[in-house]
Amino acid sequence: MDGQVQKKPDANEKKEQWKQTYFLFSLFLILSFNFNLVSAKYSDGVIVTEADYQALKALKHEFVDFRGVLNSWNDTGSGVCSSWAGIKCVNGQVIVIQLPWKGVGGRISEKIGQLKALRRLSLHDNVLVGAVPTSLGFLPNLRGVYLFNNRLSGSIPPSLGNCLLLQTLDLSNNQLTGFIPASLANSTRLLRLNLSFNGISGEIPMRISQSPSLIFLALQHNNLSGSVPDSWGGFKSAHHSYQLKSLALDHNLLSGTLPSSLRNLSLLEELNLSHNQIIGNIPDELSSLSRLNFLDLSNNNFDSQIPESISKFGNLSVLNLSKNKFKGQIPDTIGNITGITSLDLSENNLTGEIPMSLLNLPNLTSFDVSYNNLSGTVPSLLVKRFNSSSFVGNVQLCGYSSSTPCPEPENLPSPSQGAVSVKHHRRQLSTKDIIIISAGALLLILLVLCCVLLCCLIRKKAASKGKNGKTRGLDPRGAKPVPAVGTEVESSGETGGKLVHFDGPFVFTADDLLCATAEIMGKSSYGTAYKATLEDNNQVAVKRLREKITKGVKEFEVEVAQLGKIRHPNILALRAYYLGPKGEKLLVYDYLPNGSLASFLHARGPETSISWPTRMSIAIGTTRGLCYLHIEQNMVHGNLTSTNIVLDEQNNPKIAEVGLSRLMTTAANTDAIATAGTMGYRAPELTKLKNASTKSDVFSLGVIILELLTGKSPSEATDGLDLPQWVASIVKEEWTNEVFDVELMRDASDIGDELLNTLKLALHCVDPTPAARPEAQQVLQKLEEIRPEKNVDGDVE
Ligand SMILES: *[C@@H]1O[C@H](CO)[C@@H](O)[C@H](O)[C@H]1NC(C)=O
Ligand SMILES: *[C@@H]1O[C@H](CO)[C@@H](O)[C@H](O)[C@H]1NC(C)=O
Ligand SMILES: *[C@@H]1O[C@H](CO)[C@@H](O)[C@H](O)[C@H]1NC(C)=O
Ligand SMILES: *[C@@H]1O[C@H](CO)[C@@H](O)[C@H](O)[C@H]1NC(C)=O
Ligand SMILES: *[C@@H]1O[C@H](CO)[C@@H](O)[C@H](O)[C@H]1NC(C)=O
Ligand SMILES: *[C@@H]1O[C@H](CO)[C@@H](O)[C@H](O)[C@H]1NC(C)=O
Ligand SMILES: *[C@@H]1O[C@H](CO)[C@@H](O)[C@H](O)[C@H]1NC(C)=O
Ligand SMILES: *[C@@H]1O[C@H](CO)[C@@H](O)[C@H](O)[C@H]1NC(C)=O
Ligand SMILES: *[C@@H]1O[C@H](CO)[C@@H](O)[C@H](O)[C@H]1NC(C)=O
Ligand SMILES: *[C@@H]1O[C@H](CO)[C@@H](O)[C@H](O)[C@H]1NC(C)=O
Repeated sequence: MDGQVQKKPDANEKKEQWKQTYFLFSLFLILSFNFNLVSAKYSDGVIVTEADYQALKALKHEFVDFRGVLNSWNDTGSGVCSSWAGIKCVNGQVIVIQLPWKGVGGRISEKIGQLKALRRLSLHDNVLVGAVPTSLGFLPNLRGVYLFNNRLSGSIPPSLGNCLLLQTLDLSNNQLTGFIPASLANSTRLLRLNLSFNGISGEIPMRISQSPSLIFLALQHNNLSGSVPDSWGGFKSAHHSYQLKSLALDHNLLSGTLPSSLRNLSLLEELNLSHNQIIGNIPDELSSLSRLNFLDLSNNNFDSQIPESISKFGNLSVLNLSKNKFKGQIPDTIGNITGITSLDLSENNLTGEIPMSLLNLPNLTSFDVSYNNLSGTVPSLLVKRFNSSSFVGNVQLCGYSSSTPCPEPENLPSPSQGAVSVKHHRRQLSTKDIIIISAGALLLILLVLCCVLLCCLIRKKAASKGKNGKTRGLDPRGAKPVPAVGTEVESSGETGGKLVHFDGPFVFTADDLLCATAEIMGKSSYGTAYKATLEDNNQVAVKRLREKITKGVKEFEVEVAQLGKIRHPNILALRAYYLGPKGEKLLVYDYLPNGSLASFLHARGPETSISWPTRMSIAIGTTRGLCYLHIEQNMVHGNLTSTNIVLDEQNNPKIAEVGLSRLMTTAANTDAIATAGTMGYRAPELTKLKNASTKSDVFSLGVIILELLTGKSPSEATDGLDLPQWVASIVKEEWTNEVFDVELMRDASDIGDELLNTLKLALHCVDPTPAARPEAQQVLQKLEEIRPEKNVDGDVE
């Protein structure tokens, strides 16, 4: 009896381990479900509820399983929660159905409404037909519906308005028709609504435009008609701040004018209304959209002048007003939008000259004013940057190609009265033009020269001795400033958890994170690291901290907010953290596909060699990151190992686990130091002292440099000695060359001095006496002396 009870969990545990190593695993499972699973091991396994089992059977019955991906949906229900493909449960209830890209056809059964706990339905990129089930409206917990890229038809069920927790509804690229139900705006959590690429008709409901939670609204490529609602940002009295960042309504049949209420969307970055039938002007009020980055109003019927206030869109990068009937002159003020990269004003009815202010736009790479009614001379700097296709179709425009020469001022034919003033005016301008252009050209040349000189100087300086490089040494690209940290967005998870974003490239919700597909990357004394793939296929690295050893929530939040501000090219950026209702703590970082330095060095095939320049640039980058921590952040790492250094695509190193010791209890940190000891990175004084210092970090750095030089892992003792002792013993006996990685010895005649000097430096770092070790800053200076930067960039394999 006893034996039996013991045997069962054991087998289960093995299975569990196997799964963790080889299977994609869900963070949600790990977070919420592990507890159930653990307790279930000692009972009889998780049995799905009868209602859910029947619903899944009905679903399978109506699906057409072309590729046999549902073969695992076979037995009597005991395996639903453990082995059915794409199913996740909590307490025996299905919470996730996730089967994207599986070639699944057929229909989605209305029985899905029986899965009362369902939170996420992800069946995108399949070949499903039929309607979006009305019964989805019976699911009060539904957060995410991802049915895009299928062949669904019929209309969008208004019952979805009952799902008050809905965050994402993506039905794009199907064959849906009918109207957009206003009830979709019932959810005050709705972040992303994507109904694009369907055949939806009717008007855009006013209530949708008033949603205070929407961040992305994508309704492009439909058959929507009527005017664009004039109720953006809802009621002016409301104290909401409106979150909308991206509004795409292009390729529809919208008419009427551009509503001035768009001005309320103060966070708007992208506005696309192209390919509609909008008339009138661009209201001056819209100039409050100073964040706007992308504005496309092309292929409409705008018939006003382009307002001077267009320059208030100071952050615009793309402006497309082509294929309208804009008339009058191109406003001079466009030259104030200094960051613009693409400007398309083609196929309008613009007149007058091309303003000289356009020469102020250094980043303009795409420019088109073709097919207007412009006149005068094209500024020669524009002619140089853009070919004639940018200017054709303007009968009175000259000087942009050899076939459109401008008339010589002297040879002007006797003009009529009206033309006199025009031409006279133009001649005056032309003289001015020439002066301005020459002056401009001269300035530009001077500027370019200056830049080139400066760059050379900076590079040389950075590359050479660097004796006065106090701050420069902290940043590998010399002059580039550390990027500023952006706004913090906080969103409460529906589980009662809390997700806090620092600045970063990804938008995701707590639910996205918890339901992400995750794969274990590694474990450390502080917790487990996962590679998580979000619904949009973006990848992040997630560290789940061991709960029992983290500090209390208040202290934790104060510390983690500090860590979220640390930005340096050689430090892995913390992008967000999640606090779960049961005290779970997740840290979200950038995911770097090249893995850790440890695996790069020690887990490569015999064919892959790592060049000396690559090794050296890793050493220098790591040292830069450490300098930044020690000097700018006044922070000790405490656990620097080659497993805690990750590499990006160019093998630039980034230090991970920065500041984690601040989130942990003292006991946990003592533990971590002990672990570092067994791995061979711990400074000898830490066997007695409990607190890591900058000098103990330098010891670890020295071990890492030795690791780079010898190709040996410090955990594998050689002749019973740890890596520093082993190296020291050989150097003492003057067999110095024996220590280096054999593949480095091939080039020893060229790099011999560099190898020796680096070895000396590394041995200095691992001096048993802390006071004798250099500071990280001195290590950096030495490394830069040994290998000036000019050699570092190019040679990466
Ligand atoms: C059910 O599916 C699982 C997974 O595909 C498979 O291992 C098992 O043999 C199947 N059972 C039956 C009775 O077909
Ligand atoms: C909306 O769906 C379309 C088509 O699937 C896709 O290209 C687009 O990126 C989506 N936009 C948003 C904001 O989700
Ligand atoms: C959702 O919206 C519809 C129409 O906009 C409304 O009639 C209905 O009462 C709302 N449902 C809930 C549950 O708030
Ligand atoms: C849009 O509506 C027009 C007529 O109003 C129709 O001819 C066209 O097929 C519709 N397009 C789609 C994609 O439904
Ligand atoms: C650009 O956008 C920021 C807000 O992100 C705003 O503070 C700034 O004033 C804008 N710049 C211009 C030139 O409008
Ligand atoms: C914008 O451009 C106009 C004309 O080029 C100039 O007079 C004006 O001072 C500029 N405004 C700003 C805010 O730079
Ligand atoms: C032009 O582009 C560069 C590189 O993206 C950027 O650093 C610079 O700030 C831009 N210039 C302006 C005036 O926006
Ligand atoms: C263009 O503008 C001119 C006068 O400004 C007007 O006579 C002409 O009809 C306009 N053409 C179009 C196509 O609107
Ligand atoms: C161009 O402008 C002139 C007057 O400036 C007008 O007479 C002519 O119709 C315009 N041409 C077109 C094609 O709009
Ligand atoms: C002008 O440049 C565009 C792209 O910049 C190119 O597509 C086009 O072929 C060029 N035209 C000529 C006449 O060189």
